[in-house]
Order: sequence, then structure tokens, then C-alpha cells
Amino acid sequence: MKIDLLSPASFAAGQPHDQYRWLREHAPVRWHDEPNGRGFWAVTRHTDVWTVDRDFQNYSSEPTIMISDPAAEQAAGFGPHKMMLMMDPPEHTAFRKLIRQEFTLPAARLREERIQALAKQIVDAVIERGECDFVDQVAGEMPSFVIAELMGLPLSDGRELYKLTETIHTAPEALPPGAGGQAVMKMFEYASGVIAEKRARPGDDLASKLLACEVDGRRLEDMEFLLFFLLLVDAGGDTTRNLLSGGLLALMENPEQFAWLMADLDARLPSAREELLRWTSPVIYMRRTAKHDVELAGQQIREGDKVVMYFGAANRDPAAFERPEVLDLSRDPNPHIAFGTGPHGCLGQHIARIEIDAMLREVLTRMTGFELAAAPEWLASNFISGPKAMPLRFRAA
Ligand code: HEM
Repeated sequence: MKIDLLSPASFAAGQPHDQYRWLREHAPVRWHDEPNGRGFWAVTRHTDVWTVDRDFQNYSSEPTIMISDPAAEQAAGFGPHKMMLMMDPPEHTAFRKLIRQEFTLPAARLREERIQALAKQIVDAVIERGECDFVDQVAGEMPSFVIAELMGLPLSDGRELYKLTETIHTAPEALPPGAGGQAVMKMFEYASGVIAEKRARPGDDLASKLLACEVDGRRLEDMEFLLFFLLLVDAGGDTTRNLLSGGLLALMENPEQFAWLMADLDARLPSAREELLRWTSPVIYMRRTAKHDVELAGQQIREGDKVVMYFGAANRDPAAFERPEVLDLSRDPNPHIAFGTGPHGCLGQHIARIEIDAMLREVLTRMTGFELAAAPEWLASNFISGPKAMPLRFRAA
């Protein structure tokens, strides 16, 4: 079996489940060469991904969670600062605490009504047309609007920010030279405007709260705010979008499951949503770096080695799921790790679930007769998985 978990081509039509299967069965912690880097260990079994993600004593999120190390000039641009996604406890704990309250289940529930209203507004905009690009015009709208609301920004700005996120998550080889870096700079330029605006006119929003809060007895520096902003926009954008588009595609490809769901949508939505998370696993991987020599599933890992957790592979592991290759919307229990686990486990998962439920409820009850108008085009990325365009025909229900 040819294993290549770096080439965007391996992810051009969804995740490479045949490679994942081979790896889980033959080499669950396997060395993977890297043309422009040191190489890494690919971890594909559920139990090992779970272990690595929780064991921050042995597996560090520093200096980065991306497979390639940051270029020196890029790292220098951020000064001594980094995103909390790339910090270890106790520093990480202190930063996460700054925004944790906004993302608890009760806090997320307070947004439920507004999110349902946004879902209605999004479907209203396409319902009469009979045809749309589901990714851009439906699925992508929801996370763009939600991040804008969280940060206290105009909804249309959320849409622009989300377009930048997509560029940032696209493999550099699939973009014009420098486009990824330019997208980060544009995001920073925009966020610098937010700093000025929210300092002058603070509101009851997360951006204003971040600017007012203290860490270690001091205010956040501008660069620390910019990195928080980038993380929040990046983390909640095309992940939720891809779950919605990839999830609808999975329903269309599994008509019996689709019919089962529709027979009692309200009652069946929670288990269906979790199964779609397992099935699509929008975040392909997170990387860690070994802090010490350590053994994982009988494999000796050396201090400094890169260790990469493949969530989509873990989520199809027969040791954790019965009939993992079958989409079963009634699956219970469903111990998927599409949101990761451990100290960095997805902070936005309660909001994400509310967004997903609101959109699926709205789309599935008001739109019907879904047909692909053209083959979906997948994001050229080895980091985030999902369709980038999905032209659909439908009827108003
Ligand atoms: C279907 C949607 C989503 C998926 C699949 C997803 C998945 C993930 C994953 C896999 C991680 C890393 C976990 C780990 O390392 O163990 C993560 C982290 C994170 N996610 Fe999400 N996410 C989603 C939606 C969201 C949303 C809507 C938000 C915010 C509005 C969000 C905010 C974050 C943040 C802030 C982190 C970093 C947490 C930390 O470093 O402590 N995510 N997410």
C-alpha cells in the first residue's frame, strides 16, 4: 500500500480511508517521510490518538500543531507570542481560562435561539432559487455569522474573514505563491481595526472582553489579541462548514439512513449529528512533539520527534466502533474524537453542535429533492477535510 498522508491529492476526494485502514492494521504508529522536513510518526488507532492527545506531559503542542515547522521569518513576525492551540499547560490553561466562560454549554445554549434565527435567514436567501452552491451559500454562512456575532462584528465581515480562513487552510502548493501569508496579514489588518474600534467603543462581545481581561496581572498585548482572533476565526469556520456540507453529502449517499432520520428528525438529530461528526471528521490531524523519549504502542519515539494524530483514522477504528465503515445515524455509544480530547479538546464544540443542529433542522425540513448539479470539489488540504464547492439542485419542501 502506498502511504502518502502529505499530498493534498490523497485528500482530493475525502479522507484516504484505504490508507488509514492499512496503517491501523499493519503499522499503527508508522514513520512517514516528509520531503521538506524531518519526517513524523503517523498515529491512526483510536486508543493511541486518545493517549497522545491527553498526555501533554510527553507530547507537546509547541512549537506548532502543523506538520511543517514554522518558517523562521514567520515565527519572528509573532514575536515571543503564539496561539493557545500551540501552548502547553500551565500557560495554555491560563489563556484558555480567558475565554472559557463564553463557550460553556449554558453559554452556548443562550445563543441557541439567535443561531436558529440565523439558520432561517440563510435558508430564506436560497430557498426560491432551486439551485445553489451549498458550501458557500448555505453551510459557510452559519460559522461566518456566528463568529461575527461572538466578536461583535457586522455579519458581512464574518463572511470575508471566513474566505481568508479557507485560503489559510489550503495547501500552499494549490495557491499562488505567498497567498497563505497574505491571508494571515489581511486577517491581522482587520483584527487591528477591531482593536481600535473595541477600545474606543467596547461592547458586550468577546473581542471587547479579551481586550479588557488580564493574564498574569497584565492586559493582553496586541499581538496576543491578534492570535486569539486568528484562532477563533480559523477554528470555527471551515470545520463547521465542512461538517454541514460533508454531512449532507453523506445523507444523500445513504438514502436509507436519510429516510430513517427524516422519520423523526427532532428525536434522531442528536445521534445523527454525532455520527456525521465521526464520519466526516473535518479536522484531519493535530501534531504533537515528543518532550522525552517515550514508547507508543510498542514503538520507540525519540525526544523531538513529531507525532501526528489522525482523527479520521481513529474515528473508523474497528476496535472502538462496531461496523465503522457503515454510516449508522442511530450509533450509540459513539466515542468519536472529531473534536479531539484532553487540554486542547475543541473549546467551541457546544456552539458547533448548536450550529449544526440548527442548520440541519432548517435545511432538511425546508429543502427537499437534493441532487448534485456537479461533482463536489474538495478542499486541497491535508489538514482540513471537506467539499469546497457542492453545486446542488433542490425544491422547497
Ligand atoms: C464541526 C466543527 C468543529 C470541529 C470538527 C472542531 C474540531 C476541533 C479539534 C479537532 C480541535 C483540536 C483538539 C485537540 O487538539 O485535541 C479544536 C480546537 C479548537 N476549536 Fe474546534 N472544532 C469545530 C468547531 C469549532 C467552533 C465553532 C469553534 C469556536 C467558535 C471552535 C473553537 C476551537 C478552539 C478555540 C480550539 C482550540 C482549543 C485549545 O487550544 O484549547 N471550534 N477543534
